[in-house]
Amino acid sequence: MQKEPPLLQSLAASIHACAQSITAYCDEVHYPQASFEPDAPSTLLPSTAPQHLLDAQETLLESVVQLQHLAFDVSDFLPCQQVYYQQLSALQWLCHFDILSHIPPTMPVTYTSLASLASVPEPLLRRIAPMAITAAFLCSPSPNHLAHTRLSAAFAADPALRDWLLYLASASAPTALKLTEATERWEETKKPEVTAYGLAMGTELGFFEHLKADPGRGKEFAGYMAAVGKSKGVSLDHLINDFDWASLPDGGVVVDVGGSTGHASRTLAQTFPHLRFIVQDTPSTIATALSQQPSPPSDRITYTPHDFFTPQPVRNAAIYLLRAILLAPGNPALVSDSLMCHVQ
Ligand SMILES: C[S@@+](CC[C@H](N)C(=O)[O-])C[C@H]1O[C@@H](n2cnc3c(N)ncnc32)[C@H](O)[C@@H]1O
Repeated sequence: MQKEPPLLQSLAASIHACAQSITAYCDEVHYPQASFEPDAPSTLLPSTAPQHLLDAQETLLESVVQLQHLAFDVSDFLPCQQVYYQQLSALQWLCHFDILSHIPPTMPVTYTSLASLASVPEPLLRRIAPMAITAAFLCSPSPNHLAHTRLSAAFAADPALRDWLLYLASASAPTALKLTEATERWEETKKPEVTAYGLAMGTELGFFEHLKADPGRGKEFAGYMAAVGKSKGVSLDHLINDFDWASLPDGGVVVDVGGSTGHASRTLAQTFPHLRFIVQDTPSTIATALSQQPSPPSDRITYTPHDFFTPQPVRNAAIYLLRAILLAPGNPALVSDSLMCHVQ
């Protein structure tokens, strides 16, 4: 029987094989090869790539992560964890002070002029940017210059990515770090007003109550939700492609329950012009949605406040869309309340 190669070798071989098939395919279809250049495409493969190459990309990523874990000495583990939170902090700083939009898309800029354009202290910029560079976010073509990579260029071009990052840094990460204290205090409580989120934000309100009470936070969360819709796992493409929307009748109404500022409805409306949409959410989120409407506003999308724990006022819609709103882990009663308000 042939002996299995050692894990280190088999992972390296898997990375080599996947990289070879991906680069060969890119050559064949004249798609740019992976690079850090600021004008490199945001995806490794074109959207038309066959499934076996998309699978190869997944395998490549998994093997890279496993190989990294295997190659670490135990003493490397904590320094590596430290890098993750320092990188997050550096990215928050760069986005908060709007550094990225002052860097020309394809040209380097000196630290001195960048610091002056963004009104930040140059010594801080010189210390913080290199931490982001360790994540291939920005690069330094010479000791006095900073320039975009494909990652930072994408963040400079897309405010939704910046909203997402800022939400991670200001709400998600602090909440995660309060988990231990929350368990110490309340063990495994299901009450929405005693949570790690409440400890991190200094509030006794439940998560959505807190968003309602703080329009700034609510707006930030809506931006985060819109941005998350662009990521692969929860991409709106799944919503568009995995249901036969075209089969719905002309003028059919889709009620987007808890639809935030309407990103899902807007995307569906673009692809299916025969449908109409009603976006329902809390009053403050609907106010944000109305303030962000494109000009001229679409006459096929309307926005209206509605509490989804109360009976649904729109009758006979073609579809009631409940996307990512049944978020009540461990509390089936909340989920069934929400569902029953729509099916009765
Ligand atoms: C996780 S987000 C999902 C947003 C959107 N459906 C999506 O797929 O991206 C949950 C949404 O439910 C809204 N929401 C929370 N409680 C609500 C309530 N009682 N009535 C109506 N909307 C509510 C929030 O404001 C938020 O926009």
